[in-house]
Amino acid sequence: MKLFTPFVQRSLTLRNRIAVAPMCQYSAVDGMPDHWHLVHLGSRAVGGAALVIAEATAVSAEGRISPQDVGLWNDAQRDAWRPVTRFIDMQGAIAGVQLAHAGRKASAQRPWEGGGALREGAWTTVAPSAIPFDHDWHTPQALDDAGLRQVIEDFRRAAERALAAGFRLIELHAAHGYLLHQFLSPLSNHRQDAYGGSFENRTRLLREIIAAVREVWPAELPLWVRISATDWHEGGWDIEQSVRLARELPALGVDLVDVSSGGLVPHVKIPLGPGYQVPFAARIRREAGIATGAVGLITEAEQAARIVEQDDADIVLIARESLRDPYFPRRAAQQLGASIDAPVQYRRAW
Ligand SMILES: Cc1cc2nc3c(=O)[nH]c(=O)nc-3n(C[C@H](O)[C@H](O)[C@H](O)COP(=O)(O)O)c2cc1C
Repeated sequence: MKLFTPFVQRSLTLRNRIAVAPMCQYSAVDGMPDHWHLVHLGSRAVGGAALVIAEATAVSAEGRISPQDVGLWNDAQRDAWRPVTRFIDMQGAIAGVQLAHAGRKASAQRPWEGGGALREGAWTTVAPSAIPFDHDWHTPQALDDAGLRQVIEDFRRAAERALAAGFRLIELHAAHGYLLHQFLSPLSNHRQDAYGGSFENRTRLLREIIAAVREVWPAELPLWVRISATDWHEGGWDIEQSVRLARELPALGVDLVDVSSGGLVPHVKIPLGPGYQVPFAARIRREAGIATGAVGLITEAEQAARIVEQDDADIVLIARESLRDPYFPRRAAQQLGASIDAPVQYRRAW
């Protein structure tokens, strides 16, 4: 059963093909992970996933989605992540982190407090162009050259801290309408300089950030990129551009594309259904010759196994199902006649 076979990424061996997708907890003070993050991520490592990717982690304070996002923009945050990565390691899982900048979708309320633009304590947001996400959102400032250099430097420094914090895999967040996706999409990027217009220009910031991160991220550790394969909107970023981008990524030192969709344009119609984004992961894998991760409404053991078996993706990322059941990988293994070593403390139960 391929789902439970190891997957080698540079010097790392993932023990199976199941990863916990990054999921914002909106529960940090000053960007610091705490007991919640340790128990939340730790229990999913105990649950048998090969890889646990920590939520969108801001590379700068201005890049947070909400005031309660975690970060890696200072050394105190770096130190606070160490117990989390150490615990995940001890469970035989790999600790990954998603580095993120929210761009024009920053300075927002937590979902359970409304999820719209912050009214109190808001900060100035930045983006490729001064176009708000929606009519009642902050109008961002278009990044100037110095601002762009700073963003690149923030990603580089955050990657350095991620390494020192004990993370062994970085995923760059270039999906869901956040800053890097805002540069990719012609709908949010109206720049007339070297960072806007042509495909080459719109993908430039992402390529420069990958290069900066690769300068400090060891060659023996994997680097992933999450993209939205389509904006689900005419004139936006789409699957053809995603394939074209994915073809360029291996040469830049990227090992896998985690294929999501949407998030750039509000109120679009998305044809939701089981595994609805899997065909994008399959097409990118087939046409760009890079490993892919499939995510989105993957909730059943058989379904996860089929995706990997059919070579639609190299791994599956599980988000909400792993909130409902942190032991999803163990349950899937049991259902499919495989097994994942349980922690010694729990062996009497298996
Ligand atoms: C509570 C929650 C928080 C999320 N936070 C992030 C995030 O930080 N970064 C990200 O790329 N996606 C985030 N997502 C999206 C998930 O990673 C995933 O792509 C999406 O939920 C679809 O997968 P699912 O159907 O298995 O839930 C989040 C989803 C949920 C439910």
